[in-house]
Amino acid sequence: MKPDDLPVPPPPVTPLRWRGGWRDGALHLLDQTRLPRHELWREHTDPDSVIEDIRRLAVRGAPAIGMAGAYALVLAARHVLADRPAMSRPDFLAALEAHGARIAAARPTAVNLPGAIARHLALVAEAPGSPEQLAEALHAAALELDAYERHACAALGQHGAAWLWGRTRFLTHCNAGSLVTSGIGTALAPIYVLQAAGQAVHVHADESRPLLQGLRLTAYELGKAGIPHRVLADGAAASLLRRGAIDAVITGADRICANGDVVNKVGTYPLALAARTHGVPFLVAAPLSTLDPETPTGAQVPIEEREGDQRAYLASEAVPDSLPAYAPAFDFTPAELVTALITEQGVLEHPDKMRLAPWVTQAARLQTRHPGGR
Ligand code: MRU
Repeated sequence: MKPDDLPVPPPPVTPLRWRGGWRDGALHLLDQTRLPRHELWREHTDPDSVIEDIRRLAVRGAPAIGMAGAYALVLAARHVLADRPAMSRPDFLAALEAHGARIAAARPTAVNLPGAIARHLALVAEAPGSPEQLAEALHAAALELDAYERHACAALGQHGAAWLWGRTRFLTHCNAGSLVTSGIGTALAPIYVLQAAGQAVHVHADESRPLLQGLRLTAYELGKAGIPHRVLADGAAASLLRRGAIDAVITGADRICANGDVVNKVGTYPLALAARTHGVPFLVAAPLSTLDPETPTGAQVPIEEREGDQRAYLASEAVPDSLPAYAPAFDFTPAELVTALITEQGVLEHPDKMRLAPWVTQAARLQTRHPGGR
């Protein structure tokens, strides 16, 4: 089936989208740490509370933290103007730079966050106008990014569904659905499109360690969308693949490097290895705002290490603080294990530096033109 023949469905459940939206001068975020038991919305009028929510993963997923960062910069601009209404333009830009640096540092691995901040700071530095006008330009840029990501999800959902047509049994890792974008998601987008096109789909969802994001969030989201699913422990995935129970593995990404290496939630790499061993396609779906033309390979990407109570649990009790732990939040999967990358531009099979080059150029161009980039 050609992509043009596939319908683009509306987001499966609108309230599940990463935000309640920008409303009445505030950013509204669904607190993902409380899901699935509690649907608690948080209202932000202060950039620091957004930074805190990015750090504690109340809002998470690469496109979502890029958008949250962009809105945090809008809030920062409004605070600066409220504190010092007669500020000069250079002082205003310097204050924004300082806020932007703090926002961008909230989480290090997903490129969407520093990408959106750098792009929006450059945009206001080059724009004419008073500090008030620049604050408005930041707001417009954040809304434009939000709209762009929504469009990107729909487009990559179409491309992915066309490639996957005929396959019905999927395995996904972590959560890369409508909770992490302003649209229908990244890894889950093709599955939502297939479902909307009338194809039977079934999803196995893992990331049972370190944070239960697959078991808590993906299962919650798929349940709301009426997609049949089962959860599993990460260690069970390889056996499932060996049994021939999965037609394709599909994940999102926090950063795709210029050579096609994919950085995503820890556990993605072993999943890709198992998929390769058992001859199952391993696909990665992400918007071009997650493609990082400036980082040559996965080895150069800063891998966030988390601390504290997510490190490890023995039964239901936290391990003693003195227990040494290795707790990376992400890993990188070498490009040679990726069957295909799916973006809003299409599907690229067997990505490597040379094959990806036109997309890297396109991403760099797009990222200077629309606010999703650096
Ligand atoms: O620790 P998390 O939940 O922030 O990890 C998120 C992931 O790794 C997602 O799979 C990734 O951001 C892709 S989101 C489209």
